[in-house]
Amino acid sequence: MKIDYRETTNDLLKRIDIHSQYGSNNIDEWMLKIINLQKGMNILDVGCGAGKQCFSYHKYLGGDAIITGGDVNEELLDKAKSENLRLKTNIKFISLDFNKIFPLEPNQFDFESCCFAIYYAEDIPFTIREMHRVLKTGGRLFTSGPMPENKQMFYDIIREATGKVIPPMPGSSRYSTQILSAMKSTFSMVDIEIFENPLVFDSVEPFLAYTRASLSEDRKLWGSFFQSKDDFEKIMDSIHHVSSKWLDRDGKLVMKKVVGGFIATK
Ligand SMILES: C[S@@+](CC[C@H](N)C(=O)[O-])C[C@H]1O[C@@H](n2cnc3c(N)ncnc32)[C@H](O)[C@@H]1O
Repeated sequence: MKIDYRETTNDLLKRIDIHSQYGSNNIDEWMLKIINLQKGMNILDVGCGAGKQCFSYHKYLGGDAIITGGDVNEELLDKAKSENLRLKTNIKFISLDFNKIFPLEPNQFDFESCCFAIYYAEDIPFTIREMHRVLKTGGRLFTSGPMPENKQMFYDIIREATGKVIPPMPGSSRYSTQILSAMKSTFSMVDIEIFENPLVFDSVEPFLAYTRASLSEDRKLWGSFFQSKDDFEKIMDSIHHVSSKWLDRDGKLVMKKVVGGFIATK
C-alpha cells in the first residue's frame, strides 16, 4: 500500500496536548503498566516522532537504560534532539525508515515499541520482520494503534458535515487485522490489551483544533475530501456548524479513543 503521509510537528504536538487536556485516562500510564520495563534494558522506539515514548521510558527507569529513538521525519527528530539536550537525557535519535532495512545490528534490543506509527509502513510484513530482526530472542515488541471503533463521533460529524464517504484510514482499517496478523505470524506469541479514553469537550473549539490537526496531517490520506486549498476551510466551516449543533443537542461532545496495544514476544 503506497502511503503518502508526512506528520508535522505542530499537528502532532497539538493532538498530544488535546489528549492530555481532555482525556480522563492517561495512555502513558496504561502503557508503562503493561509493558513491564526493567532497569538496564536496551530499548528501541521506532516512529518515535518528537520522542514522547523515549522520554517517558527514561523518566520511568530513572535513566538506567540505553534508549534509541528512530523516525523518518528529520523535523521531528530535531525536536527530539533539542529536548534531549535540554533534559540532558542521553537518548540516541537516529534516522530510520519503516520501508528500508533498519540501520541496526540484529538481536540487540530487549524491548521495542512503535506507537501510533506502524500503519504508515508500506509493506507491513517487511517492517514487522525488521522489528523482529533487531530484537533479542525473548525480547518484546509493543505496538499501539486505533481499533475500528476508534473516534466514532469524529467520523460521524465529518460524514454529516460533508455527505462524503470517509476514505479508509491506514490505521483503523488495518491495525487490528493486517498488522495484528503479521505480528502473529512473525512472533511466537502476541497479547492484546485495550485502552479506552473518552475525550470530553464542553465547547467546540478543542474539537475543531483536534480535527484541524488530524485532517491537515492526513490531507493526502483524505484526498477525496480536498480538491483545492479552499476546500479545507469550507469543510472546517461545515464541521464547525455540525459540531455546534451536536453540542447544543447533547450538552457536550464525547470522542472516545479506542486503542489496541499488541505485545509480541520473539
Ligand atoms: C502519529 S506519529 C506518532 C509519534 C510518536 N510515536 C508518538 O506517539 O508521539 C507517527 C510517526 O510515524 C512516523 N513515520 C511515518 N512514516 C514513517 C516511516 N516510513 N518510517 C519511520 N517513521 C515513520 C512519523 O514521522 C511520525 O513521527
